[in-house]
Amino acid sequence: MTEFFISTPIYYVNDVPHLGHAYSMINADAFARWHRGIGDEVYFLTGTDEHGQKVADSATRASMSVKDWTDLYAQRFKDAWVKLGIAYDDFIRTTEKRHEVAVQKFLQALYDNGYIYLGTYTGSYCVSCEAYYSPGDIVDGLCPVHRIALTQMEEENYFFRLSAFRERLIEWYNEDPEAVFPDFRRNEALSFITGGLDDISISRTSISWGIPIPWDERHVCYVWFDALINYLTGIGYDAPGYQRFWQHSHHLIGKDIIRFHCVWWPAMCMAAGLKPPTKVLVHGWLLVEGAKMAKSGGNGVDPIELVGRYGSDTVRYYLLREHALGADGDFSIEALENRYNVDLANNIGNLLSRVTNIVEKSLQGQAPPATGRVLDFAKVREHVGRASRAWGAFASAQALEEVQSLVRMTNSILEERAPWKVEDTREIGEILGDALEILRLVAFLVSPVLVDSAPRILQAIGIDGASLSIPYADSLEVGLYGGGVSISKAPPLFPRLRPINA
Ligand code: ME8
Ligand code: MG
Repeated sequence: MTEFFISTPIYYVNDVPHLGHAYSMINADAFARWHRGIGDEVYFLTGTDEHGQKVADSATRASMSVKDWTDLYAQRFKDAWVKLGIAYDDFIRTTEKRHEVAVQKFLQALYDNGYIYLGTYTGSYCVSCEAYYSPGDIVDGLCPVHRIALTQMEEENYFFRLSAFRERLIEWYNEDPEAVFPDFRRNEALSFITGGLDDISISRTSISWGIPIPWDERHVCYVWFDALINYLTGIGYDAPGYQRFWQHSHHLIGKDIIRFHCVWWPAMCMAAGLKPPTKVLVHGWLLVEGAKMAKSGGNGVDPIELVGRYGSDTVRYYLLREHALGADGDFSIEALENRYNVDLANNIGNLLSRVTNIVEKSLQGQAPPATGRVLDFAKVREHVGRASRAWGAFASAQALEEVQSLVRMTNSILEERAPWKVEDTREIGEILGDALEILRLVAFLVSPVLVDSAPRILQAIGIDGASLSIPYADSLEVGLYGGGVSISKAPPLFPRLRPINA
């Protein structure tokens, strides 16, 4: 057993969550569930990023106090995560006292270590990005990401000596080639570093919505600087125990925030005397007709509505099966329905209803044990091994594809041996016992994704669904299905979709 700390970005509460945010959550939730399943001690942290100009502006536009606004929107994120079956261990809001304490402790450490100085910032700022842009980044006088006008700023600010970390960051990336996943994202991070690092302005006097700088209360902390520190707040930076999880830290992020997580954050950790995070996992964007799904883009898909229509297992399955971590992926209802029909209804669902149906009809509901006389268990073991390794390597799409091939293999054996035509009950038992074993294994292997359906698969074959809520590494051995229980035809696990316009 080992610790496994996984975090998601903390989302700005300037608007409601969309499916892009849900995509991060579902990935992190599946990894957390897999690690709990194999017996690791998991800490899954998510939350909301509530400071900064962007959030303050949203509240003002709605004529609400920032406090009321953030309370309302933080709750909307929490509600969405319930609907999507997300089981986090901790939800941090950056306006909580524990976070203020952690941020001030961290800032003080940087200050005491000589990495902070007072200077003057002159330049351009994008409120939508909550980021500063140097002249080289600006396109036609506009923000390179949002194509909106930048705010000109000139302020006395505290600066973090990021430039002092260039060599150390390069050295760290060279020594730890697995610090960023996938690999091509590590090269992207490295190119930011080798391209040159400017010191960063980390405080503001022009706004008051933020965490006060401990040694100079005229300033509040710049929102990104406070946000990154949430990862330490969550695991209890105010007590020595946090190191236990910090040694096994995994930050899952979207590719839009690589610079903050793969350049700033490791340097900030070094400056505070901490090891950089163990791994940054970078996923791509969900696109709608080629464009990034975004609040500001007005093309956000509502995850709650989608779950209402298709169920959370289907949404989770589609996102993880269809999009390999790292690459961008198009969202479409057609692709979602297609995955549902092909993988869930026609493959897994069909296997379950066929097998339970024949047990009921031909074997008086008495489940036979697995024998390995019909299916090649050596081959099954290979699939299970590959699926498990894929889960451990953050390759959900691959893990799920392994499961699909196991199920396809079993469905085609059923076609071939046609147990519904066989008379000899001993032979029927051998065929169905092995098929039941596959269903048992499938339930464990898909349980990080199909959180409602996996226990139903187990129950349908006479195993307590609660076996999924305790460490199950031993259950992934092949050949354990013992039969001897009575089962009946399972109701359809994934019923046929009703046409949308019907
Ligand atoms: O950046 N596809 O918050 P944010 C996939 N508060 N993922 C997407 C996505 C899309 N189209 N759109 C958003 C912030 N995301 C900061 C983070 S962390 C210390 C502070 C996901 O509300 C993705 O994970 O803009 C991205 O990194 C995150 O939402 C940004 O959310
Ligand atoms: Mg954003």
